Amino acid sequence: MKQTLSGLIVASMLASALTVNAAERSASLLSNACAGCHGTAGASAGDSIPILAGLPSEYFRRTMQRFKSGERYSTIMGRIARGYSDAEIDAMATFFEEQEWLAASHKRDPKMIAKGKKLHKKKCARCHLGDGGYTEYRLPRIAGQWADYLLIYMKNATTSEFKQPQPQLMKKSLEGLTESELAALAHFYAAQQ
Ligand code: HEC
Ligand code: HEC
Repeated sequence: MKQTLSGLIVASMLASALTVNAAERSASLLSNACAGCHGTAGASAGDSIPILAGLPSEYFRRTMQRFKSGERYSTIMGRIARGYSDAEIDAMATFFEEQEWLAASHKRDPKMIAKGKKLHKKKCARCHLGDGGYTEYRLPRIAGQWADYLLIYMKNATTSEFKQPQPQLMKKSLEGLTESELAALAHFYAAQQ
């Protein structure tokens, strides 16, 4: 009886270890499908594609679900997100959160950084705390993100297709900013590590 019981325990331990391995394997395998654009393990090397490595899992999960439902505006991610089940999204959320955030590297222009910082304080800092480094389930980190991606997002955010309620407030902050002001903001955030 004792033997059977310990046998059972061992068997169930093995089974759960196998399940964990399978989940891990599938998460990193799944993430390979993202690597062509978002880089290996989410460390995007392309200026117009966001870094995913280190994104909080709740933000990742929520964002993928919102791409899926069309609630968050996207050029391509809506179609991609619809190809994944909730369980697969959960597995990838954990996987990407465990990867180390590698801040974008690019040339720094002190004048643009100073201009961006001023605008940030005036228009954006009440939500994007910590010079854009703060993140929670509804708010992505923007410090150290690629400048081109930030700029594209900001431009899209002021268009009429971009209608999710939460960033309506952000839309207001972005409206009326000139092209060079937006570029300075993107430059400022990208330069934060
Ligand atoms: C063909 C290129 C491409 C592929 C492949 C791709 N993405 Fe994306 N991803 C983008 C672009 C471009 C954006 C910006 C939103 C948009 O316009 O669609 C983005 C945005 C995102 C964001 C939002 C990041 C943020 O900071 O808010 C997440 C999360 C994301 N992608 C996850 C994934 C995952 C997970 C996969 C793989 C299953 C994947 N992407 C595959 C191009 C791609
Ligand atoms: C009222 C709060 C609020 C204000 C003010 C605000 N934002 Fe945001 N911002 C958000 C939220 C919330 C998101 C996430 C949107 C989403 O998930 O769809 C966001 C997302 C972003 C993103 C996209 C990041 C990514 O990884 O996809 C950029 C870029 C950005 N904000 C820049 C700015 C700039 C620049 C300003 C000031 C001009 C600003 N925001 C003002 C709340 C705000």
